[in-house]
Amino acid sequence: MNSEKNITVPESYRGREQAFVKHTLLKTYLERLFMIIGLFQSHIRYVDCFSGPWQEGSSDLRDTSISISLEIMRRCRRALLERGRKVSFHALYIEKDKHAHTKLQEYLGVVPGNEVVTKSLHGDFFELRQSVLDWCGSDDFTFFFIDPKGWKRVVEIPTLTPLLQRPNAEFLIWSSNSNYS
Ligand SMILES: C[S@@+](CC[C@H](N)C(=O)[O-])C[C@H]1O[C@@H](n2cnc3c(N)ncnc32)[C@H](O)[C@@H]1O
Repeated sequence: MNSEKNITVPESYRGREQAFVKHTLLKTYLERLFMIIGLFQSHIRYVDCFSGPWQEGSSDLRDTSISISLEIMRRCRRALLERGRKVSFHALYIEKDKHAHTKLQEYLGVVPGNEVVTKSLHGDFFELRQSVLDWCGSDDFTFFFIDPKGWKRVVEIPTLTPLLQRPNAEFLIWSSNSNYS
């Protein structure tokens, strides 16, 4: 039996098919992870260490990790509530580029904030590592999404060590050739 499925790349991802693969992986992984973690932990944190928006294909940012992660958190929160689990979701988005960070702030300013508590930080992830750890605290489960444009000082182990040492955390590190600089 041939189990291969034909997958149609949405129009907004044409020419950036790698982003489609990345976002499909992020969605699938996050949803399963949060539904499992939410069964036994009451607070879940999500950190997008290199959030963008970056090369977005639509003005409502629907094809960015920002919008996708928020949608998954909302969906998981509701599904967990239906199972009698009240879980609070907090999300932190970090972006170095000033223009992109302004767009990010504007977006977070208009999305409904009653289901996921959001915050953004403007600056270099490397410099902001301690602020990120402070925001996480020591107890809550935290998922780190690491999707840099380059890799030096970013996905090298010494750079990530302070985060990797944190207990109760999980990481998804995406590094595609087109992101290298
Ligand atoms: C590959 S893009 C992120 C794409 C986004 N995660 C998505 O999937 O929609 C990388 C982003 O990181 C930002 N960036 C680059 N260097 C950074 C740094 N040192 N600290 C924080 N952000 C940085 C870039 O401006 C860019 O918006």
